[in-house]
Amino acid sequence: MNQAEPILRAGKNPVSITVLTGRPGAKINPAMWGIFFEDINFGADGGLYAELVKNRSFAFPDPLMGWTKINPSLADGKLSIREDNPFEPANPRYLRIQSAGTAPFGVANEGFRGIGLRQDETYDFSARIRGVSGAPLVNVQLYGTDGTLLASAPLRRFDSGWKTYTATLRPNDTDPKARLQIVLEGKGAVDLDQVSLFPRHTWKHRPGGLRADMVQMLADLKPGFLRFPGGCIVEGSVLERRYQWKNTIGPVEKRRLLINRWNYEFSHRPTPDYCQSFGLGFFEYFQLCEDLGAEPLPIINCGMACQFNSGELCPLDQLDPYTQDALDLIEFANGPASSPWGAQRAAMGHPRPFNMKLLGIGNEQWGPQYLERYTRFAKVLKEKHPEIQLVSAAGPLPDDERFKFVWSQLRELGNADIVDEHCYANPAWFFTNTHRYDHYDRHGPKVFMGEYAAQSVAMVSTKNRNTLECALSEAAYLTGLEHNADVVRMASYAPLFGHADAWQWTPNLIWVDNLRSYGTPNYYVQQLFSRNRGDVVLPTQLGGIRKSAAGVENLYVSATRDDKTAEIILKVVNSTARAISAKLNLNGAKSVGAGTETVLAGSSLDDVNSFNEPTKVAPKTRAFKPASPAFKHAFPGHSMTVLRIKVKRSAVVPTAGSDSVPLSRGTPGGTPGWTRRRGRLRYNDAD
Ligand code: AHR
Repeated sequence: MNQAEPILRAGKNPVSITVLTGRPGAKINPAMWGIFFEDINFGADGGLYAELVKNRSFAFPDPLMGWTKINPSLADGKLSIREDNPFEPANPRYLRIQSAGTAPFGVANEGFRGIGLRQDETYDFSARIRGVSGAPLVNVQLYGTDGTLLASAPLRRFDSGWKTYTATLRPNDTDPKARLQIVLEGKGAVDLDQVSLFPRHTWKHRPGGLRADMVQMLADLKPGFLRFPGGCIVEGSVLERRYQWKNTIGPVEKRRLLINRWNYEFSHRPTPDYCQSFGLGFFEYFQLCEDLGAEPLPIINCGMACQFNSGELCPLDQLDPYTQDALDLIEFANGPASSPWGAQRAAMGHPRPFNMKLLGIGNEQWGPQYLERYTRFAKVLKEKHPEIQLVSAAGPLPDDERFKFVWSQLRELGNADIVDEHCYANPAWFFTNTHRYDHYDRHGPKVFMGEYAAQSVAMVSTKNRNTLECALSEAAYLTGLEHNADVVRMASYAPLFGHADAWQWTPNLIWVDNLRSYGTPNYYVQQLFSRNRGDVVLPTQLGGIRKSAAGVENLYVSATRDDKTAEIILKVVNSTARAISAKLNLNGAKSVGAGTETVLAGSSLDDVNSFNEPTKVAPKTRAFKPASPAFKHAFPGHSMTVLRIKVKRSAVVPTAGSDSVPLSRGTPGGTPGWTRRRGRLRYNDAD
């Protein structure tokens, strides 16, 4: 959209919005608006997982990546990577530090693009240490970017066997890019492994837990579900490097490190220090879901590596271990503590089941190879666990041949519950596809809009930004999803997090650095939908709607009703630069009560949020009470508005007006959706 040009010619008829408050339609899935999490852009290690030490167990392909020698010119000392008599055979490497004692000697860890420290907060250091010779003192130090010592703690008297040593550090200054030093003073040698530094203040104060500010951002979304662990990360570039949930549970030191696929995916954004420690593993994901009140939606590998990479296939006759992984996962999540996998969950501190109801089979697969494999999974899982709804893939794009093929086959096979659609397109696509689901088959599989994000430049461009224009186009699109809540059961933006210094992909919903995080305009759109969901869809009749030559409508509208609060929730997106005054009619309402108006707007379509202006584009709420069920309201230019209005309803059954656009985006007669019969509106609900 070009801001300078008015996109719409003024129409003759005034804009009118009629909400048929007495005609509740489809029930909205309480888990409709959720979160897609993937370990991309330092989303887990270096992000959500609050560990501050990079390569803590020297398991990176380059075992000393992230570590540097201290005092190499002054001190007489040696560093060596060893594997004999390891502390943990699953991750056998450790570091030996030997010092002649002539000067302090040791190592520094650079953290994930630095270590973010806050003044006077408490940091818990721990390491597995084994004394080798002499009786050196080990000084644990935190240094600021400018070389100032921020905190230190001595460790002494090391056993000849591996033992855990801890220290508490309180930096006297804040520094987003500090470093950790481990320095030997005096002659001797020690072995070092599992070197860890965590803020004491993690989410829910769990030791070894998640970054509190980042989880808070998620909690503020009030997500209905959490999809994890991705994304392409599920698939692996080759099958050997696929995500295997069983390797991500149990004691952290036993979780075998994997090179993150985003480490090498984009040659224009290489991140050679990006690995998966799995400190954030499947147990922690389930626990996070519970904390957030979100339905867990794990995605497992279906026997296919990423089709953008090797596309390696597990032969069909060797698929059993993959389907068994799915069965075991269900037991891990839902089985009694007495079952083998339920016992593992209980041993990790959660005897109660996690009550998982959804399971994704493959991420973004396509082609007959996917269908063959999906069908195997569906057969096994439907037989043993009919209570689990399966989410199947539909390729990477929302309307190409791969997408059409998979969808048509899934409809025919009749074994799909929910199909995961992905869409990364320009804002125009989102503005002009709001009617996409109006004509979907109401009797077929449901839709999970599992990955969507408007791209300000183009998919995978490093120049993409989280602009207001992108956010508004998504908001318009989401009104279409909401209208079709009988078909579209879930939706999530992707990707979730981007670390400002270490991202591979943009745009992202939330940007973070080592100490801060902020939501994008897109975040606030998702939040407005999620926090103003409503329980049922209400049909709307719109008058005076205009389309630009490019097919962009001036207003996009959807309405729902919150049964508990008896509020009508109206979401309106004004895509034009000018305020639009509309006549609103809450048809069927006897009287209206107090409410609120929340507006998300900016001064330009190019507006973005940033660390310096984190809420430049953020919703503003004010009290609002129309005088009667019929009132005029102005919707600011380039904005999304949410009106919540309490209503008392009368029993009036409305008829469709002559100037209305297709009723509730026109679902065909005989199928669920709004139809007009003998001049009256009716809703056919298949549910
Ligand atoms: O969100 C980034 C990537 O986009 C996901 O990993 C993948 O599913 C999609 O192609």
